[in-house]
Amino acid sequence: MNKRIQIAIDGPAAAGKSTVAKKVADVLSYIYIDTGAMYRALTYKALKKDIDLHDGAALGMLLDETTIKLVPSENGQKVLVNGEDVTEEIRYQNVTNHVSLVSQHGEVREEMVKRQREMATEGGVVMDGRDIGTHVLPNAEVKIFLKASVEERALRRYKEQKQKGIETPLDQLKEEIATRDKLDSEREISPLIKAEDAFEIDTTSMSIEDVVNLILKKVKERSEA
Ligand code: CDP
Ligand code: CDP
Repeated sequence: MNKRIQIAIDGPAAAGKSTVAKKVADVLSYIYIDTGAMYRALTYKALKKDIDLHDGAALGMLLDETTIKLVPSENGQKVLVNGEDVTEEIRYQNVTNHVSLVSQHGEVREEMVKRQREMATEGGVVMDGRDIGTHVLPNAEVKIFLKASVEERALRRYKEQKQKGIETPLDQLKEEIATRDKLDSEREISPLIKAEDAFEIDTTSMSIEDVVNLILKKVKERSEA
């Protein structure tokens, strides 16, 4: 039997991480771990409790009393915060606009990374985020860095929202993505950056299927090496 490895997928917003990570995990019968959902879950709870998002210590304390469970479901993954299903709520605009503020704090990142490493100890995981290849799983056997132009990424979000009946101006989406990219790439602790040994894929003009197949090829090469 092939060894069940760790696959790390990083990249900026709407580069296609969760879509392809889920598919790769399905093909390999691996578990998929969406680390962004964990930061979103904490942000959702902090906003609900009216906690100052600039206060890392307060957010760290909130996290200590917060359980975050990622449960596989028909549509991908359910997110439970202290047992409450917040799968939809964590995608709301208000959470998206504040999550990069919450995720910059050391108190938050340290605990999140600890939990993420625990989830991956057995291998057989595809984990996506911003710092998986550089920090969370530095020994992952396969590291992928997905990117795409900001125009293309905004268009992807636009189409996604339109399908849900939400019409957000394309320019606004573009600006939101660019702002989050900047905050995530320029923060002091574990910024969004390609790991030296990661394989970079520019998905701007690629189909989801092509990206998935390319990643599976890398996994196969690695398994045979
Ligand atoms: O899906 P999308 O690209 O919009 O974002 P996400 O993966 O849900 O991540 C939301 C936010 O969480 C990011 O913009 C980062 O601020 C933070 N994040 C992080 O700091 N480290 C990770 N490993 C994953 C997400
Ligand atoms: O997780 P991340 O924020 O990186 O991106 P995503 O939520 O997986 O993908 C954003 C949107 O882009 C989804 O609606 C995907 O179907 C779409 N997508 C695409 O059109 N072409 C790709 N090569 C990858 C994703």
